[in-house]
Formats: sequence, structure tokens, C-alpha cells
Amino acid sequence: MTFTRRALVISTGLAAASVAGLPVSAFAQKKLVLGFAQVGAESEWRTANTESIKSSAKEAGIELKFSDAQQKQENQIKAIRSYIAQKVDVIAFSPVVETGWDTVLREAKAAKIPVVLTDRSVNSKDDSLYVTFMGSDFVEEGRKAGRWLVEKMKDQKGEVNIVELQGTVGSAPAIDRKKGFEEIIKADPKFKIIRSQTGDFTRAKGKEVMEAFLKADGKKINVLYAHNDDMAIGAIQAIEEAGMKPAKDITIISIDAVKGAFEAMIAGKLNVSIECSPLLGPQLMSAVKDIAAGKPLPKRIVTEETIFPMEVAAKEFPKRKY
Ligand code: AHR
Repeated sequence: MTFTRRALVISTGLAAASVAGLPVSAFAQKKLVLGFAQVGAESEWRTANTESIKSSAKEAGIELKFSDAQQKQENQIKAIRSYIAQKVDVIAFSPVVETGWDTVLREAKAAKIPVVLTDRSVNSKDDSLYVTFMGSDFVEEGRKAGRWLVEKMKDQKGEVNIVELQGTVGSAPAIDRKKGFEEIIKADPKFKIIRSQTGDFTRAKGKEVMEAFLKADGKKINVLYAHNDDMAIGAIQAIEEAGMKPAKDITIISIDAVKGAFEAMIAGKLNVSIECSPLLGPQLMSAVKDIAAGKPLPKRIVTEETIFPMEVAAKEFPKRKY
């Protein structure tokens, strides 16, 4: 394997004599610099994720260089290249889409800068291009949504017509949440996804696409499955404006469990939200320190999460951190 000494340490767990040309002890003592290329500010989840990263870096005494890609892959690639040019100690990013990263990741590898993936992963044959991926299991989140629906509709005899608001096209959560959900509902042919379109993880798009769904199918729609809370909240507005009752006329399932979703559940407008934690900052900072100290890290760190149906929302709300 020809990867850098730093990454070699991480992936093999061997003790390192030096890191990036410095003795491990010296590397660990200097103020670490982390370059973080964020996806954007598309959702309440993302805002909480950014805040978690910024506050944890401050607390950990790590210098953070932060950029917002406004949901564009080319902006993230530019940011990563600029972190390479600035010779930061570690680069972390949450890839807006899954594919198309190999070239820039090879550039980071050639510059001996370890890369940590947070929240979303890349689709690459070469997993030596990053040290670790920390974040949720999106397929499992989709399965949880599917299982909740199957249980809720177990006594329903006729067809269950579902409309789906997908996340950003080509992103890991959009691909995986769809996959996990379909894997569960396909066991019973009464469940039918009659429309599925992207709402790009935003409230505005969620509302716009739901308006189109309602125009086309109106009362035929029994269930809305939204890949995040923001799109569900936008869709709720569209449903109300169409004179229907969200969570009653249309059962609504979404993902993230942000405060906005809890408010909607307490108001009786959203049936369930599947948790996806954005609070990855502390874990990321500890990974950066471990990398600097030459400690091995697992290739995959999965966030533990649960599910919040509307019945528990009022009780759980005061405990929510995002
Ligand atoms: O990658 C996590 C997803 O991205 C969240 O579910 C969504 O709200 C965000 O924009």
C-alpha cells in the first residue's frame, strides 16, 4: 500500500514514528488545523450539524477552516483543493453526492492529508482514500420508516397510495432511504409508491413538489414519505392549502427528528419522525486528535438513533438538542 504514513497508521493500527514528517509527539502538540467542506445550509438538520462542528472545534482547541458549498459538488471540490493547498492537517467533508470524488481524494492522499467523511459517504472502489466514515445508517432509517408504516396500516384492506419526496438526487441519504423503505414495503403489494420526486431536502421544494402531487392525485394520496423533516414541513403547508388535514387525511412520515418536526407532531400535523443525528462535531474532533496521535480508527462509525411517533413528541421535545 502506498498511502501516506498518517493514513497507514489509521488503517493498519500500527504505531507511527512520525506523522507528516513530524515526530508523533510534536504533531500531536501543535494546534491542529481542520478543513471542513460542508454541503450547504439546506435544512434545519444541516444548520445543527454546522453548529455542532463549529462549537466542538472551538472546545477542542482545533483551528477550523469552514466552507459552505451551497449544495454544489464543484464548490466542495474547490474547497477541498484549497485545504490541500493550505496544507491543513485533516480534511473532513459531507459529500453532497456519492460519486465523482476519486480524483480530488487522490490529490489529498498524494499531499499526505488524511480525509474523514462525516454524515454522508462516497461511492468509491478505493476505501484507502479516506480514514473513516462517521454518520448514520441511512438504509436502516428508510427501513424504520417502512416498518412503522407497515405496522400502522396492518389492518388496512385496500391499496395504500404513497407519494415520496426524495432528498438531493445522487446523495447517499436519498439513495439509501429510498432503498431501505422499499425493501420493507415490497413485502405487501397493497403498498404502492404512486409518485416519487426530489425536493432537494428543502422546505420550499418540498412544498412545491407536494403541490404538484396533490394537483395530480389529490384525495388518492394516503401517505407521504419525505426523506427529511424540512420537505415534510413544506409539504404540510401544501396539504393545508389544498384544504386537507395533514397526519389525518394523509399519513406523514419523515426523517431527522429536528425541533421543527417535533412542533409539527405536537400540533398533530406529522405522524412520525425517524431520528438522524447531526451532532457529529465532538466525534469528529476526537477523530482528528486520534489521527494526529497516530491512533487507529474504525473504518465505519455508526450513529445510534431511534424513532419518534407523534404520541411521544410533547414528552420528548424538552430534551431535544437540535
Ligand atoms: O445527510 C443528512 C441529510 O441531509 C438530512 O437528513 C437532511 O435534512 C440534510 O439536508
